[in-house]
Amino acid sequence: MCGIVGYTGGRSAAGVVVDGLRRLEYRGYDSAGVALIDDGELHQVKRAGKLANLESALDEAGLPESRCGIGHTRWATHGVPSDRNAHPHLSNDGRIALIHNGIIENFGQLRGELEADGVRFSSETDTEVAAQLLGREYAADGDLTKAMTRVCARLEGAFTLLAVAADDPHTVVGARRNSPLVVGIGDGEHFLASDVAAFIAHTTEAVELGQDQIVTITPEGIAVRGFDGSPSEGRRYSVDWDISAAEKGGYDTFMRKEINDQPAAVADTLRGRIDEAGQIVLDEVRMSDQDFRDIDKVFIIACGTSYHAGLVTKYAIEHWTRIPCEVELSSEFRYRDPVLDRSTLVVAISQSGETMDTLMALRHAKDQKARVLSISNTVGSTIPRESDAVLYTRAGIEVSVASTKAFLTQLAACYLVGLHLAQIRGIKYADEVGAVLTELVAVPDKIAAVIEHMEPVRKLAREAADFGRVLFIGRHVGYPVALEGALKLKELAYIHAEGFAAGELKHGPISLIEDGTPVIAIVPSPRGRSLLHDKIVSNIQEVKARGAKVIAVCEEGDDIARVHADDVITTPAAPTLLAPLLTAVPLQEFAVELATALGRDIDQPRNLAKSVTVE
Ligand code: F6R
Repeated sequence: MCGIVGYTGGRSAAGVVVDGLRRLEYRGYDSAGVALIDDGELHQVKRAGKLANLESALDEAGLPESRCGIGHTRWATHGVPSDRNAHPHLSNDGRIALIHNGIIENFGQLRGELEADGVRFSSETDTEVAAQLLGREYAADGDLTKAMTRVCARLEGAFTLLAVAADDPHTVVGARRNSPLVVGIGDGEHFLASDVAAFIAHTTEAVELGQDQIVTITPEGIAVRGFDGSPSEGRRYSVDWDISAAEKGGYDTFMRKEINDQPAAVADTLRGRIDEAGQIVLDEVRMSDQDFRDIDKVFIIACGTSYHAGLVTKYAIEHWTRIPCEVELSSEFRYRDPVLDRSTLVVAISQSGETMDTLMALRHAKDQKARVLSISNTVGSTIPRESDAVLYTRAGIEVSVASTKAFLTQLAACYLVGLHLAQIRGIKYADEVGAVLTELVAVPDKIAAVIEHMEPVRKLAREAADFGRVLFIGRHVGYPVALEGALKLKELAYIHAEGFAAGELKHGPISLIEDGTPVIAIVPSPRGRSLLHDKIVSNIQEVKARGAKVIAVCEEGDDIARVHADDVITTPAAPTLLAPLLTAVPLQEFAVELATALGRDIDQPRNLAKSVTVE
């Protein structure tokens, strides 16, 4: 949700900033802009649309070389995507430029106050009030850091702000409340960005800023302060992935690359998680074993794809631990007064670790004294920082806006959490946990086998593109997989796609079926839980009888599904609870191929942003 970059040092600021924006474009692509300082002058270029528009405008502008600047890629909240509303925003005298990620909630009141003071606004954004306030405060003493401190004291909401001043040509000042900001430490140069991906080509040394901190960077150093002006510090760390993780690696889209990354990402997430005593090890734990034993209810909170990972996890947690588990969309959880106390474990799942709905739900849970365990792909992001225990997925950076490898690694991490709870509470013995883990560590090779046989999936997807509508059905853990398959298709192809619990069809949705409607059925293994298998085969017959064209995603050797469906996509055998790690994969490729056939932008679907830092 908006990507921001700042740079000061010896290189071309325009080059560093635009390169950083390219790596952050997944955060928003409604408009982009830069402000560059050179020889006491501030130059600003901004354009609606994708970064490519800004790059052409910069080429045309032929600006003088600058060594200090800021840049922004926008996901619009206040004001339509347009040149005018693109960031940076300038103070009325044109000497201060500011960019923003987040929402300033009291902008209306501040705007009224500034307008009464004679300030002229040139955009509809909430951000411009911060730029104008900063201009006014800077005029008072010519100190950008102090001016930023006074501005932050007036703002309510979520914001990361970066600012430069024409009269302070080597300084960038940043401020952070509820939105991410990291510092990149170079040799004679420093970077600021929403995400390390923006500067990873230049340095892997980073400082993560805490809540309510202000940072000032110059080529020589960085200084961190609290919003009260007192000296403070961020947490220094080394980023353990390199630039290749953020490149397409020969694939036509990031999404295809990330689908192919999945065997390694799941293997990495599982690797080394067991200690010598056979216990699953979490990354950060600020609660005791006794706290885990006292848990009598689990709530999973998440959004979108992460919510679907949570729905699968409910089946695993209840089966393995016998603790009641509820799953709720973060945006609903907070507003409906859920019953929580010290013996409730809230599991917050968030790839980015910054999703505002999940962060606010987490804080609500903590206010009610619940314990929070988070599962995140982003080390040091806000959600893990505010949790009592953390398990990181090791998917590496996910650039495609539609999530793939984050989903699979979330599932892997959630299974580990379920096993951890079962073990610590004495419900499962080490050898039982070991048996599930043996199955789990065999999964990455099976995912690789699924990926190797995608051609039939692609053919089916191209055929379905003509129909313009696809329904997904599943039972048990196949139901969340159906929801996820439909979400992928909606977000990539912009067509009607919906997932249903197969047993619910007859209660209404079956009326959607007409001649030729493509229905993808997630079929559980015919082994063991054959009742579940029988039931979905009946559901396949029900929709076929009404004209549907059924594609069954089923286990290799499932001859019954093959007889009843029009087409099958097979996956290797796996225990029922773990099967989503395999059955979700062809649905990802199905969505990519169908959307490609319709000419859609795969990595940057319309209206979306990867990291949703507004509620
Ligand atoms: C869909 C997708 C989104 C995210 C959701 C939560 O492909 O990527 O639905 O899953 O916005 O994001 P995180 O996991 O970062 O909290």
